[in-house]
Amino acid sequence: MTTAGGSPHAGSTGATGEERYRAFVEQSAEGVWCFEVDPPVPTEWPVERQLEAFYERSTLTECNDALARMYKAEDRGQLLGARLADFLPAENEANLAYLREFVARDYRYMDAESQEQDRLGGTHYYLNNLVGVVEHGALVRVWGTQRDITRIKELEAQLSRSQRLESLGMLAGSVAHDFNNLLGVILSCSELALEATAEGDPRREDLEQVQEAGRRATELTRQLLAFGRQQPLRPSALDLNEVVEGTASILRRLLPTGCELVLDLSDRLGTVRADKGQLEQVLMNLVVNARDAMPNGGTITVSTQDLALHDAGVSAPVSSPSGRFVRVAVTDTGTGMDEATQQRIFEPFFTTKEQGKGTGLGLATAWGVISQSGGHLRVSSAPGRGTTIQFLLPVAVD
Ligand SMILES: Nc1ncnc2c1ncn2[C@@H]1O[C@H](COP(=O)(O)OP(=O)(O)OP(=O)(O)O)[C@@H](O)[C@H]1O
Ligand SMILES: [Mg+2]
Repeated sequence: MTTAGGSPHAGSTGATGEERYRAFVEQSAEGVWCFEVDPPVPTEWPVERQLEAFYERSTLTECNDALARMYKAEDRGQLLGARLADFLPAENEANLAYLREFVARDYRYMDAESQEQDRLGGTHYYLNNLVGVVEHGALVRVWGTQRDITRIKELEAQLSRSQRLESLGMLAGSVAHDFNNLLGVILSCSELALEATAEGDPRREDLEQVQEAGRRATELTRQLLAFGRQQPLRPSALDLNEVVEGTASILRRLLPTGCELVLDLSDRLGTVRADKGQLEQVLMNLVVNARDAMPNGGTITVSTQDLALHDAGVSAPVSSPSGRFVRVAVTDTGTGMDEATQQRIFEPFFTTKEQGKGTGLGLATAWGVISQSGGHLRVSSAPGRGTTIQFLLPVAVD
């Protein structure tokens, strides 16, 4: 790069090209690194033999501080001398596939995504550019740059999850809508037929069973309509503390001994606009789930808090506007959930409970009610560490 006058940029400082390069690499926000392969690995070897040799012969000989920060090392000195397996353990098939691809692409692999652990055990996604240096038919070193894209990946996953729920909701809602009309006909006709059938007629029992099945199906379609955000809501101005306190006595009756319900309510909450009956149902679903996750008892805490979406610890979902929200969180000390379960809990009919115990509609309806009210539903959990499910509703009035 040259200035308008044509003199080199850094020339005035007297830095050499090598020093300028080094300053750039050291200050770059991208992680920059070099693995030396010693002795070099012949490129004519079968791929699997090359991979084995990479693991045996590669050492990190250069890197910048940005790379050290990405792996939560104190400085680059802590990383220098590391082996390939410290970054891409060979036990993980995905890492081997990554290296095979590097070879297949003639030792130049651009925009390659890797999933790696930092030194504290945290999982990160990186976007990498790898350039291998081949001399006399053998790979002697690999240069690379990488960027941490973990946050972007999380937002992508969040977006695709909410898009999946939206489209599932649309489908479920429209099917439920048609079913509801059909069920209306079935229930009213069977009612008429029942009235026209004399007491003691054996056909009465059949008709009563038709009616009972019709009522159960109506309840299911009502839940699906809620999930599809097609349920008529009757919003009013609400103090969520009052809603929680009002529901607490009913909730306590649902809990066995050994299972305690604690309220932790903030004394200053904005007012929200929502359907009171539906919110009580949502609270009930969350508390029942918490109870079911604590077969040996424990504590369920329902807390309320007024917060702005930028507050620490709360990241804005991709599609949500920021602003003031009231948060209601239901926390339990139960079994918790692994990542795969958390990804699916808001889907209708997703349940891990044994047959007859759960239909998998509790959280799906909660998701529908909260989204239809302009709010958000979130989960945070880890196996053995309990669960918090929280919903945020926008503050309507101060
Ligand atoms: N607090 C929690 N702790 C652990 N797992 C939970 C918790 N809440 C929900 N889950 C998991 O999410 C799944 C779905 O929950 P959801 O309430 O939608 O359905 P369900 O409880 O299985 O059935 P239903 O609510 O229809 O009776 C549960 O089966 C369970 O695996
Ligand atoms: Mg449930």
